Amino acid sequence: MAEYENILVEQRRAVTLITLNRPKALNALNTSVLQELIAAFAAFDADDSQRCAVLTGSEKAFAAGADIKEMQDQGFAQMYASNFFAGWEKVTATRKPWIAAVAGYALGGGCEVAMMADFIIAGDNAQFGQPEIKLGVTPGMGGSQRLTHAIGKAKAMEMCLTGRMMGAEEAERAGLVARVVPVTELLDEALKTAETIASMGPLAAIANKEMVNAAFEMGLAQGIVFERRLFHGLFGSEDQKEGMAAFVDKRKAEWKGR
Ligand code: CAA
Repeated sequence: MAEYENILVEQRRAVTLITLNRPKALNALNTSVLQELIAAFAAFDADDSQRCAVLTGSEKAFAAGADIKEMQDQGFAQMYASNFFAGWEKVTATRKPWIAAVAGYALGGGCEVAMMADFIIAGDNAQFGQPEIKLGVTPGMGGSQRLTHAIGKAKAMEMCLTGRMMGAEEAERAGLVARVVPVTELLDEALKTAETIASMGPLAAIANKEMVNAAFEMGLAQGIVFERRLFHGLFGSEDQKEGMAAFVDKRKAEWKGR
């Protein structure tokens, strides 16, 4: 497996665990972290033995944001020419499902990366926020859009305009996170959930992810046609035959991924 400086990557059966590992900077996301995450997610997507991933940080910080020290002296021309942050679209292009397991601070870019995941499981000490306004800027990795989709305008606007942090319980009530668990159990719970997803047919997992994500891009009627066509398409797969035969035969399905 590739060697990384800022992240740890390990495979636990069919689950890839990616851990942000810049503890001295509370996992601030600099360009080098981004490049490593792009490589790790691409490797996960390309590896047929891997079915689901978990991205996590430390107990204190999932990630405290984009690296302020890296950005502070940049000018408009440099930011624009390099299309700073556009690389994150390579992370969101990951086709297989992945979960963010968030403990501690998920601020700015940290909150934004968590929201790039298919869903978030939060430790009870998690703190989400978009405090960029305090730095004289705005979210830049999708926060204004994904947060608003997730929790609605009122709370998203309040968070972006005041920079206030939202704790785990409120985040669950608001629909930002799928589930809150005691922080000591966070990784186990996230890995267990990832194992469950990894035990499903891989084609169906990708199709389910694609169609839920389509709800953010399409109108209802168009989204329903998209869903139905993907559903029809799976009837061309061996996994659909196997899944339904296994149900009828009262046995566990043996997925082939085709
Ligand atoms: N970038 C670079 N370094 C960071 C960082 C960041 N986002 N967040 C923390 N660090 C560094 C600190 O500078 C400090 O380093 P030194 O020891 O060298 O001084 C180290 O991590 C520990 O941080 P603190 O001493 O501040 O730790 P704390 O426990 O007192 O406070 C915190 C924790 C409240 C999270 C505080 O670190 C903080 O407010 N961090 C910045 C949060 C922020 O503004 N995030 C948004 C960044 S901009 C962005 O993300 C843009 C975007 O949309 C993509």
